[in-house]
Amino acid sequence: MTRDRFDLTGKVALVAGASRGIGSEIAVALGEYGAHVIALSRGEGGCDETLDRIRAVGGEGEAKVCHIGKMEQIEGIYQYIDKTHGKLDILVNNAASNPYYGHILDTDLGSFKKTLEVNLQGYFFMSVYAGRRMREAKAGAILNVASINGVSPGDKQGVYSMTKAGIINMTKAFARECGSLGIRVNSLIPGLTRTRFAQALHDDDDFMAMQIPNTPLARGGEPSEMACCGIVFTFRCCELYHGRIYSS
Ligand SMILES: NC(=O)c1ccc[n+]([C@@H]2O[C@H](COP(=O)([O-])OP(=O)(O)OC[C@H]3O[C@@H](n4cnc5c(N)ncnc54)[C@H](OP(=O)(O)O)[C@@H]3O)[C@@H](O)[C@H]2O)c1
Repeated sequence: MTRDRFDLTGKVALVAGASRGIGSEIAVALGEYGAHVIALSRGEGGCDETLDRIRAVGGEGEAKVCHIGKMEQIEGIYQYIDKTHGKLDILVNNAASNPYYGHILDTDLGSFKKTLEVNLQGYFFMSVYAGRRMREAKAGAILNVASINGVSPGDKQGVYSMTKAGIINMTKAFARECGSLGIRVNSLIPGLTRTRFAQALHDDDDFMAMQIPNTPLARGGEPSEMACCGIVFTFRCCELYHGRIYSS
């Protein structure tokens, strides 16, 4: 294996949900390996800290506002990419929503819709728009950050877990149909990771008492550990992995 397989110089990478947590770590790692990173979050200036960190490791990037639950904002970002960069090599779908933590029978329609809009509609159309551009280039890599809850649902996280199962299935569907077009599609499936997103779980003593003893390392993961696993799928050396994990 040659070192250039780990070189992302000249690649344009779009990372949704890059202001903090796992997405920020993935964005910094992509920048460190040479990609130009377009870091997305919902608020103006949200990704400034991530950009500072990218530059500190010798990388380059830019921050853009994009709420992936809003179709017009997704379309706007791809118009910007077409105009400014003319291509997209890497998409990381990482921004997710989990507005409700409670018993499944008490789920309200608003939380249900919001979770689906971001986690399913958002991931799906971010992938469709990226995939159309990658199809023209006959190359590209898409990474969908799912969750262990997509394999087995987490208590009090029914709707979120359903959407994460959907993301794993979506990954398989895109992988099967886009592999022959030169587009690799993979999923990262994190367990409990220390981020703001998982704060409600970390604050739930009963959950932690039950969860941690069942964790091989007897601790939750760190966002930087997820980034290491995640960006591996963007490298060319992962051609072998594509399709075998999800398309058999
Ligand atoms: N932490 C865990 O234990 C864990 C476990 C399994 C899976 N995951 C998955 O890992 C991914 C990242 O989670 P995290 O723990 O790193 O969360 P986090 O620290 O809360 O970060 C979430 C990121 O997503 C952005 N975001 C949220 N909603 C968005 C939207 N609608 N449009 C665009 N950006 C949005 C946030 O930015 P702004 O708020 O600035 O917009 C932030 O940058 C998620 O897909 C999550 O499901 C996490």
